[in-house]
Amino acid sequence: MKVFKTREEVREFREALRSKAVGLGLVPTMGALHTGHLELVRRAASENPEVLVSIFVNPTQFNNPRDLENYPKSLEEDLALLGKLPGSISVFAPEIAEMYGDAIASKHYDFKGLDRVMEGAYRPGHFDGVGTIVEALLRVVLPHRAYFGEKDYQQLQIVRQMVQEEGITVEIIPCPIVREADGLAMSSRNRLLPEALRGEAGFIYQTLQQAKGRFGTESAAKVKAFARERFASHPDFELEYVEIAGAEDLRPVRRKQKNKKYRVFVAAYLGGVRLIDNIALN
Ligand code: PAJ
Repeated sequence: MKVFKTREEVREFREALRSKAVGLGLVPTMGALHTGHLELVRRAASENPEVLVSIFVNPTQFNNPRDLENYPKSLEEDLALLGKLPGSISVFAPEIAEMYGDAIASKHYDFKGLDRVMEGAYRPGHFDGVGTIVEALLRVVLPHRAYFGEKDYQQLQIVRQMVQEEGITVEIIPCPIVREADGLAMSSRNRLLPEALRGEAGFIYQTLQQAKGRFGTESAAKVKAFARERFASHPDFELEYVEIAGAEDLRPVRRKQKNKKYRVFVAAYLGGVRLIDNIALN
């Protein structure tokens, strides 16, 4: 497997493909790969003769320095996992200086309000950091398609907005959330969960499912109150937010509109680990 460390190497790789007019799929990740990531890569490989997976723990999207320090890193294992997948898969794993030089800073974007709710409200600067690195990756890799998981649903919408605003030609492909048997959305952070609490983590998905069950007949306010109370009565969870928002505009619902698609979103701490999840409601 080819592992590129510099932008220049990626540019050369890209030039060689261009001359052959080959389809290229990009899968941006921060490594510590799990089955959720691998599903994105499989999908990309099924739709593109060439796939580039980026592995880069992007410092500008971490609003909490401890979170950045604790973020799991396992490049050798990641490469071994990717090596087992079918398809022509290459990796771009740059150092921080390669992407940022001496100035580790974000660009500022107008995300049209998509960044003012949920993750954006609780993680100041996070989406500017995501936009900055995704834009930089798209501009060096120039993929035909780029793959993003619905696990980070707000990020997916942010990336769509950024690409449109910046006039970048790429197809953004959303991919469904991959879950553990108990419903816990797979995440690199799951490996930080204390063993004794792992059995509780399925509670998030159960709550989302129950919220969905109520959404057809109850008001959005009631459904949110129900979810909040469930978290409040659980001894191990600390809820950050539960929100019901439009699936496209991410505007928090006031009164349900007919024919509009909604999703329910949750962020909660379990054993000090921040977990997020969301599902479609209708
Ligand atoms: P990371 O958390 O490593 O996730 C990389 C991609 O995998 C994202 O598109 C994410 O939504 C997707 N993903 C993670 N867990 C998933 C799951 N259980 N099911 C489906 N898809 C899943 O998201 C990032 O990295 C970064 O913000 C990044 C986009 C790479 C920019 O730094």
